[in-house]
Amino acid sequence: MNQINVLFVCLGNICRSPMAEGIFKDVVEREGLSKHFNIDSAGTSTYHIDKNPDSRAIDTCEKKGIILCHKGKEFKAVDLQNQQYILAMDKSNLENISKVFSTASYTAKVLLMRDFDEKFKGQDVPDPYYGGMDGFSDVFEMLERSSYELLHYIRSEHSI
Ligand code: 4NP
Repeated sequence: MNQINVLFVCLGNICRSPMAEGIFKDVVEREGLSKHFNIDSAGTSTYHIDKNPDSRAIDTCEKKGIILCHKGKEFKAVDLQNQQYILAMDKSNLENISKVFSTASYTAKVLLMRDFDEKFKGQDVPDPYYGGMDGFSDVFEMLERSSYELLHYIRSEHSI
């Protein structure tokens, strides 16, 4: 079976995108669809390569029963060919990804995560890195809502 590749992208790959990866994996698993998916995350910077997610991201997810298991990696041009769905956390991530577009042919659909957050389409998942725990809880809620809708969208495109 060909798996559907989904990549979540932010700047540092230690806060938002590893949370999105963990939350989306959890939603997919609860729907019994894990075997259909390959889910990962990356950052457009090189700041935190091989690092664990931020401890606040780990703690926020753990409180909801989600264990984050990821090492920071950089978003690469090859991801534009290997991934089917690339979900940017904010518009500056989209811009950074689009700089890579100009040098690579690509097949992935590149989308803004909160376009799947019904009442907040077009908005950014705000960067919680310089704030407190509240910011991480807010990010969790946004990502969870968006994950359900994203899965619905992908299922409708793949008849699963
Ligand atoms: P993220 O948050 O993009 O959600 O992983 C950030 C993490 C680290 C930095 C910026 C944003 N930083 O500048 O180190």
